[in-house]
Amino acid sequence: MLKASFNYTPPDALTGSMRDYRYPRGPDLQSRIAGFFKWQNLRRQHSLWPFSRSTEEGPATVCAARDDAGGKMRGVNFASQDYLSMSTNPAIKKVAQDVIEEFGVHSAGSAALVGNTSHSVLLERKIADFLGMEEAILFPTGWAAGYGVIKGLVRSTDHVVMDALAHTCLQEGAAAATKNIYLFRHNMVGECRKWLEKIRAKDTENGIMVVTEGLFSMDSDTPDLVGLQALCDEFEATLMVDVAHDLGNLGKDGKGFIGDQGMLGKVDLVMGSFSKTFGSNGGFVGCRSREVKEYLRFFSPPCTFSNALSPMQAATVLKAFEIIESLEGQVLRDKLMTNILSLRRQLVDAGFEVYGDPSAIVCVKMGSEGLARLVSRRLPTAGLIANLVEFPAVPKGQARFRMQVMANHTEQNIRDAVASLRDAFEAGREEFDWMNSEAEPLKATA
Ligand SMILES: Cc1ncc(COP(=O)(O)O)c(C=O)c1O
Repeated sequence: MLKASFNYTPPDALTGSMRDYRYPRGPDLQSRIAGFFKWQNLRRQHSLWPFSRSTEEGPATVCAARDDAGGKMRGVNFASQDYLSMSTNPAIKKVAQDVIEEFGVHSAGSAALVGNTSHSVLLERKIADFLGMEEAILFPTGWAAGYGVIKGLVRSTDHVVMDALAHTCLQEGAAAATKNIYLFRHNMVGECRKWLEKIRAKDTENGIMVVTEGLFSMDSDTPDLVGLQALCDEFEATLMVDVAHDLGNLGKDGKGFIGDQGMLGKVDLVMGSFSKTFGSNGGFVGCRSREVKEYLRFFSPPCTFSNALSPMQAATVLKAFEIIESLEGQVLRDKLMTNILSLRRQLVDAGFEVYGDPSAIVCVKMGSEGLARLVSRRLPTAGLIANLVEFPAVPKGQARFRMQVMANHTEQNIRDAVASLRDAFEAGREEFDWMNSEAEPLKATA
C-alpha cells in the first residue's frame, strides 16, 4: 500500500486511552486535567472522537445526528437504547401530553417529601407486582438506583462481593459504601463462593451484598442467578441483580432472565432502569419487604435527597408496563428478537465476531482501539450510527462496536447496517495495517 493513500493520522490519536488520564497528578485540580482535552481534541481534529453525539430527530431507527464538532451525519441508527421503540410509541406520547396538561412538567420535590404523584405511587406497585416482589421504590435514574441501593444498605464494616464486570453505578456505590470489596471473575459462581467462605470464616458480624447483572451490558451474557441466590442464602448474604437491559424486552412475558431462571420473587433485591426498554429516564429497586423500601427511601441519598421522577416520566413508564403486558408487547418483543437474530447472523456471515447470547445488545469485536477508531471514523459516511465502546466501559484492548437493536428496525435497516460496517471495517483495517507496516509503528508519545 502506498503511503499517499491515507491522510496522516497521528499515532497518539490511535493509541492513547482514557485510562491514561484517570489519575492526573498535581495540586491544581483544574489545570492537571488539561492533558485529557488535548488528547481528546487531537482525536476530534482527525474525526476519531465518536462520542457526545446528538440526534436531530430523536432516537429513530434512521436519523440525522451531529458529532460534537458540529459535523452532520445521517444513517441507520443502532446507537440508541430504545429496545421496544417506546420513545416514539403513539400511546406513550399521548399519555405524556395528557399528563403534562394535568400535572405540569415537574415533580418539584424528593420522594421522601412531596415529590411522588399518583402516577409514581401506581408505578411502584406495578413494578413490584411485575417482579413478584413485595415492594418497589423509584429513583431519578437507573444509575442512582444502582448506586443508591448499595450505598443505602451497605456500611463501612460490611462487604460487597461483585462480578468484575458490574456496571459503573454498582462499582461506585460499593466504593462509596465500604473498602471491603471483592471482585469475582465474570459469571464465576465458584469464585463468588470462595470469597463468601473467606469472609464468613473471619466475620459473622457484618453484612455481605453480592452484586451482579441479569444481562451484562457489554458482553450480553447472564449469570447463574439460582446458584448465586443459593450461595447468598447459605452465607447469610443479600443478592442484588441489575436488570437494566433485560427486563421488559426479553424472556417470557418480558420478565427477563430472572423470569427465565424461575427466580421471580426469589431474588433478594432487583434494581433496574427505565432508559433502555421503558422509554424514559428513571430507575427502581424491587425488594421483598416494606422495611427495606422505607429504609431506602430515607437512607439512600439519591432517593432521599434528589427530586423524584416527573409526573410525565412516571405515567409514561406505567403505560410502557401496560404495553409490555399486552399482546402489543409480545409482538414488539417477537419483532425485537427477530431483528436481533438477523443482525447477529448477518454480522457473522460478514466475518465479524459477536459477543454473548442473543439480546438487544449486539457487540461486535474489534480488539485494538486504533483499529476500532479508524473503522468508527468511516461509519458516518458509510451511513451507520453505532457506538464505539472502549475503556473505561470495557478493558483496554477490548474495543468493540455496541449495536443496540430496536423493535422498529426493519430488515433493510439491518442489511444496510451490516453492509456499512463491513465497508468501514475493510477500509479501516487497510489503513491500520498500513500504519503498522509502511509508516511508523503505532506508538504513543504522550
Ligand atoms: C447495567 C446498567 N445499569 C444501570 C445503568 C444506568 O441506567 P440509566 O442510564 O438509566 O441511569 C445502565 C445504563 O447505562 C446500565 O447499563
